[in-house]
Order: sequence, then C-alpha cells, then structure tokens
Amino acid sequence: MRKSPSQPGTVLVIASLGITLGLGVWIRWALTGALTLPAPLPHLRHAHSHLGYFGVLFPLAWLGWRNAGASLPGRAWWVAYAIGTALASTGFVMSGYGALAIAGSTVVAAVWIRSVVPLLPRSRDLADPLAVVPYGLLASLACVPAIAYWLRRDEALANGLVVTFLTGVLLLVVVPSAVAARRISVGPWPLLGLTGAGAALSLGVAPGAVTRLGLIGYAGLLGVVVLSPRLPVHARVAWAAVVGGLLALGLGQLPNVRPVGLGAIHFLVLGPVLASSAGDWLPRTPPDWAWWVGHLAWGAMSGALVAQGLGAGAWTWTAAAVGGTATALWWGVALAYAFTAPRRS
Ligand code: HEM
Repeated sequence: MRKSPSQPGTVLVIASLGITLGLGVWIRWALTGALTLPAPLPHLRHAHSHLGYFGVLFPLAWLGWRNAGASLPGRAWWVAYAIGTALASTGFVMSGYGALAIAGSTVVAAVWIRSVVPLLPRSRDLADPLAVVPYGLLASLACVPAIAYWLRRDEALANGLVVTFLTGVLLLVVVPSAVAARRISVGPWPLLGLTGAGAALSLGVAPGAVTRLGLIGYAGLLGVVVLSPRLPVHARVAWAAVVGGLLALGLGQLPNVRPVGLGAIHFLVLGPVLASSAGDWLPRTPPDWAWWVGHLAWGAMSGALVAQGLGAGAWTWTAAAVGGTATALWWGVALAYAFTAPRRS
C-alpha cells in the first residue's frame, strides 16, 4: 500500500519531526549566544525531547512493528495519542512539568502500555527482538514515579533516573523495534533485555563495573545488525559507529558526561534509527549518497558534542549548531523529495 501523508502515523511523525528539529536548532543556536529563546530553556528542552520521543520515535516503532507482523493501534488510539502528544508538548513549552504536561504524558504512557499488550505472546520466540519491548517499556516507565519522588529531594539521583529512563526506552523499545522491522534477530531477547537494562543503568542511575558489562554486551549484540545484509551499507556503517561508541563507554574510553550522552543519543536516533526505518513511512526514501551526506550532518553535531565532553573548546557549540542546522535542512529536502517527487514504479 502506498504510504501517504494522510495516514495518521505518518502525519504525526512528519509534524513532530519538523517541530522537534526546529526547536532543537533554535535551542542549539541560543546556546551559542546567537539567538534568544521565547520561553525558558528547560521548558523548551523538555518540549523538544518529549516530542521527539512521543511523536517521532514511538510512532516509528509502531510502524516498524507492522513489518514484523505485529498489530498496530487502531485509528482511535492514534487520535488519542496525537492529542496527548500535542497537549504534553504545549504544556512543556508553557509551564514545564505542570498539570497540562503531566495530563498529556499520562495519556501517552497509557497508549504505550496498551500498544505492547499484543506483543506479550511473542516472548515464546527467543529470537524475536519485539518480545523484549513490553518488559523494556514497563521497566523504563518504572523510573517515572521515582523521578517525580526524587526531583525535589535529590536532584542528582533524579537526573540519573531520567538518563536511565531515556536510554531504557531507546535500547529496549526503539532499537529492538527498528531491527525487528528489518527482520533482523540480534540474539535471544532475554539477553537483549539484560544487556540493554545494564547499559541504561550504567549510563544513568547505577554506573559501575557490573552494569558496564551491559554496554559491552549490548554493543556485541548490535554487531549482528552491522553485519546484516538486510540494511544498506550506509545504515550498517552508522550502526557500527553506535557499536564503537557503546564499547568505548563500556570500556571507560569515553567519559559518561552529559555532552557525550547527548551526542550518543542524537547520533543513534538521527542516524541508525531513522535511516533503518525510513522505508516504513516515507513513500520514497532518499538515495544512498544522500544518506551519506545526512550521516555527515548529524555526525558533525554528535561529534562536536562528544568533543565538548572531552574538554574541547568553544568551537564545539558552533559546530554542534551548524551540524544540527544541516540535519534539519537535510530532513526538509528529504521530506520534499519523498512526498512531492514523482514515484518511479
Ligand atoms: C528526532 C530527533 C531528536 C530527538 C528524539 C531528540 C531528543 C533529545 C533528548 C532526549 C534530549 C535530552 C533532553 C534532556 O536531557 O533533558 C535532547 C536535547 C537537546 N537536543 Fe535533541 N533530539 C532530536 C533532534 C535534535 C536536533 C536535530 C537538534 C539540532 C540541533 C537537537 C538539539 C538538542 C538540544 C540543543 C538539546 C539540549 C542540549 C542541552 O541541554 O545542552 N536535537 N534531544
């Protein structure tokens, strides 16, 4: 079936991607001092990151499940979900973690939980990466009440829990969905779950020798994706960069500091995840050479952030803003190409 922008998932992804990238670029330039922000930075940062997860990453995961033979939420659920996402994002911009943001996020979390129920029987198939998703989602969501409890009591602990939550959703929901959509199995799903949970704990609330093994083990499992002929070479090279980054973090060769974490999250999402799932929602995907250009753009942003974490100077702020702007422009052109250029059939 031809994917058109009128399908609910696609509309949500396009709108959310556009606003997420736009906000990200605005914040990046504001951090260099070149622009001012229309609302407090923490509010806009929350709106940016939540909209990216709610409106881009989760819908992409759902669209990927379709390829793996799993059932998708029905239209009414999409509508409820889109309303929850819009409410939460508006709430974050206007008043940070206020009543509106909490109400919208609650709707979103309820749809997430409902959506993973049909995946439960898949746990019988050890090779199915989607089997880890329900457990990974619930384990990650368990961080949320803990974050709320510790926010005013111990900010460092609450921040660690936020990183564990964000990383948990990425490694135990978004990445398994992206690889399952390409029908790649990375090994027994309990191992994927264990290593992914260890990695999320290690980067967040529980750094230590044991949890670091999770980073190394998860990187090892992703090696299967790098070797898989089911993905184009550019995507496999991008996954290889993620494997390298996880190994470097696990072996202590990269410090686990905020700019490095930001660089890692952004590269993983903008490169491997979006490149691997583009065929699930774009009617026409950009040619391979264009993806290489894209990987350079988000690679420049992420590389500058990693360099910042290693102590490099003021140039990193500008380089990250330039790379982020190039990323947003790249997506503008890619969407125009996908939805307006005539299709070859
Ligand atoms: C779908 C794409 C994206 C997703 C899912 C995403 C997600 C995130 C997440 C989870 C955070 C951390 C928020 C926190 O710790 O509170 C973040 C921060 C940020 N992102 Fe993105 N992002 C995306 C694309 C971009 C792009 C293209 C830019 C372009 C410049 C960007 C710029 C930023 C900035 C400036 C921050 C705040 C950095 C800071 O606090 O120092 N993001 N994003």
